Amino acid sequence: MNISIIGAGYVGLVTGACFSEFGLHVICADADEERIHLLQKAQVPFYEPGLQSLVESNLRQGRLEFTCEIERAVRSSLVIFLAVGTPPNGDGSANLSQIFDATSRVTKFITDYKVVVTKSTVPVGTTRKLKALISDNLPPHLSIDLVANPEFLREGSAIEDFTRPNRVIIGVETPQAKAIMKDLYSPLHLIETPIVFTNLETAEMIKYATNAFLATKITFINEIANLCEAVGADVHLVVKGLGLDQRIGPKFLHPGPGFGGSCLPKDVAALLSTARDHECYLRIVSAVLEANEYQKVRMVEKIRKTLGDLNGKTIGILGLSFKPNTDDMREAQSVTIIRSLQAEGAKIKAYDPAAMDNARKILTDVQFCAGPCEVAEGSDALVFLTEWNQFRKLDMGKIRAALKSPIILDLRNIYEPDVMEDLGFTYVAVGRRRLNFV
Ligand code: NAD
Ligand code: UGA
Repeated sequence: MNISIIGAGYVGLVTGACFSEFGLHVICADADEERIHLLQKAQVPFYEPGLQSLVESNLRQGRLEFTCEIERAVRSSLVIFLAVGTPPNGDGSANLSQIFDATSRVTKFITDYKVVVTKSTVPVGTTRKLKALISDNLPPHLSIDLVANPEFLREGSAIEDFTRPNRVIIGVETPQAKAIMKDLYSPLHLIETPIVFTNLETAEMIKYATNAFLATKITFINEIANLCEAVGADVHLVVKGLGLDQRIGPKFLHPGPGFGGSCLPKDVAALLSTARDHECYLRIVSAVLEANEYQKVRMVEKIRKTLGDLNGKTIGILGLSFKPNTDDMREAQSVTIIRSLQAEGAKIKAYDPAAMDNARKILTDVQFCAGPCEVAEGSDALVFLTEWNQFRKLDMGKIRAALKSPIILDLRNIYEPDVMEDLGFTYVAVGRRRLNFV
């Protein structure tokens, strides 16, 4: 089967590379010519572990192609995935201009039966609107099917998530489209991946409900961590005890500086927007966004409380991306926190293993360094903002010697408080020691 993917970003490129690895012939089309030229030379334009070699090998074996010509992609494919961006509008609603634009372009070249699949995260009702847009512009004898097949991969583990997903959700309306989608995902039958077939609206809702629930879990544990600081409990052990309850589970209960990234914040806001449109108020989800904003403010308060007046202080930051194993700076917590520290007169030194090129485009007046020791050199405190693996076993003797004062704010709970205090650090984590500033 030949398929095409419109939009070769994090999701489109991973989807294309993984389906070609399953043995399908895949054409990825993108409006960004520079991106396509890089990909034609097997150069992946962002950091995602394992993706470079997957793209290289499938390009070499002729199963994966890149083009700017939507026409070629559409004409040679039975299934067309739409994987363009759905960024937030100012009011929190999803901006659907990319997906409507891509659909209009695709429609021009449809001359026989096609299955058009929304892979992008789209508000409930969008796939049906796209179906109307296509159908209204086709001659009556041509039939097409629309399918909603949301994606659940995480950046940093995207290939594993795509090839070994917890489940595949397929919103579909006809037996023909259902059979085609089943065939497409047949490599996952072998590993017994559950495939859930629903209508279009339900599939779209499952995606938003999942992201909103994950955001709620993170926010819940952040609030519990904050309370742990007030009462002298250790959130690390609270999570252990909580997570052993099989009804709750241990995952997505890691406290920190709030959730960031290109998806959870925007999808929670878009779900609220859909709810508003239907005059249905999601009070829990609304509180999640508010609490997540506060969590970033609280991290700045924590730094201020530990260091005193920040004016003229130098703060070393380790980790800039919104999570490890990605260079993605969209809605990174580091941006809000660094800007707040700068507003109070602090000087910032920073290092990130992958995201510094992207960070340079967003942050100003930051001294970007070659590694953790250079960041620590002369800094009044070292702040961990992303839990990259390479930060987990730093030579703390060297770090201590390099710092102006031995202060560490571990906002991802990478280290053990007892160990760090024994090493002579003033060590502040999230929810692990009593702090009196709530
Ligand atoms: P992205 O910004 O990385 O990629 C989007 C790509 O689409 C870009 O390369 C852009 O040039 C291209 N594009 C835009 N308009 C186009 C058009 N008209 N024709 C052709 N190409 C066009 O976005 P992303 O992070 O891959 O996200 C895509 C969608 O998938 C979003 O709806 C997002 O919510 C969803 N999603 C993302 C993730 C993730 O981890 N990033 C995970 C699951 C779902
Ligand atoms: C998230 C979802 O996990 C994916 O399933 C979904 O497909 C994707 O959004 C999407 O819709 O685009 P992603 O944004 O890549 O994936 O990253 P996550 O691992 O979910 O982390 C999101 C944020 O929450 C990060 O800032 C991370 O640091 C934070 N987080 C995560 C915590 O603070 N604590 C946790 O326990 C987990």
